[in-house]
Amino acid sequence: MLNNKGFDLWADGYDKSVQLSEEDNEYPFAGYKDVLNTIYNIVHKKEKAKVLDIGFGTGVLTKKLYDDGYEVYGIDFSKRMLKIAKEKMLLAKLFQYDFSKGLPKALENIQFDYIISTYAMHHLEDKEKINFINKLDKYLSNDGEIIIGDVAFETRKLLEQCKVKYDNYWDDEEIYFVFDELKEFFPKEDISFTTVSHCAGIIQLGKLS
Ligand SMILES: C[S@@+](CC[C@H](N)C(=O)[O-])C[C@H]1O[C@@H](n2cnc3c(N)ncnc32)[C@H](O)[C@@H]1O
Repeated sequence: MLNNKGFDLWADGYDKSVQLSEEDNEYPFAGYKDVLNTIYNIVHKKEKAKVLDIGFGTGVLTKKLYDDGYEVYGIDFSKRMLKIAKEKMLLAKLFQYDFSKGLPKALENIQFDYIISTYAMHHLEDKEKINFINKLDKYLSNDGEIIIGDVAFETRKLLEQCKVKYDNYWDDEEIYFVFDELKEFFPKEDISFTTVSHCAGIIQLGKLS
């Protein structure tokens, strides 16, 4: 699993490598643009909104929202990713922070209309994902929403099929969302899954409490 230094090294070539995988419609980034565009359109349902991006990377999605006038916050543990994103969004409130530790103190008492995260949370173990999502809840406004776009599958069977197909370069260190299993932990909640490609999906969760 890449640590922050690994992401520092990937940062300058990141956009290009994502583009190649997405153009070939191959794992892991097949559907990447659609994932980001779908989340962009969901956020646009509100004219004004406070948006927190978890693991913003080079800021591909947040930069668009920033340019449209949304109040953008973000966290990412890679210094180089932060620098690249910061240059594109001078007034965005971007923090270098490891989300496996939760959220930084600077975000305490802020309520977001949208907490978004694309292609970042698969770095957490499944239990950690559940804890983290629960922790995020207190940072959501009353009608706020968590939107996660990632390599993700509706069922374990679909994940296994993808793994067999991409056996040679499947990344065993990444822990992808399996929606059927995740939703068991949020049984009464407003949670949904949208399939975007053979290896990408979007999970949406309303406020839990
Ligand atoms: C694959 S990139 C995705 C970037 C961007 N969200 C996108 O969709 O293109 C994953 C990002 O998550 C960040 N990241 C991974 N694990 C993290 C952690 N534990 N804490 C903070 N950031 C993390 C990496 O530094 C990287 O910028």
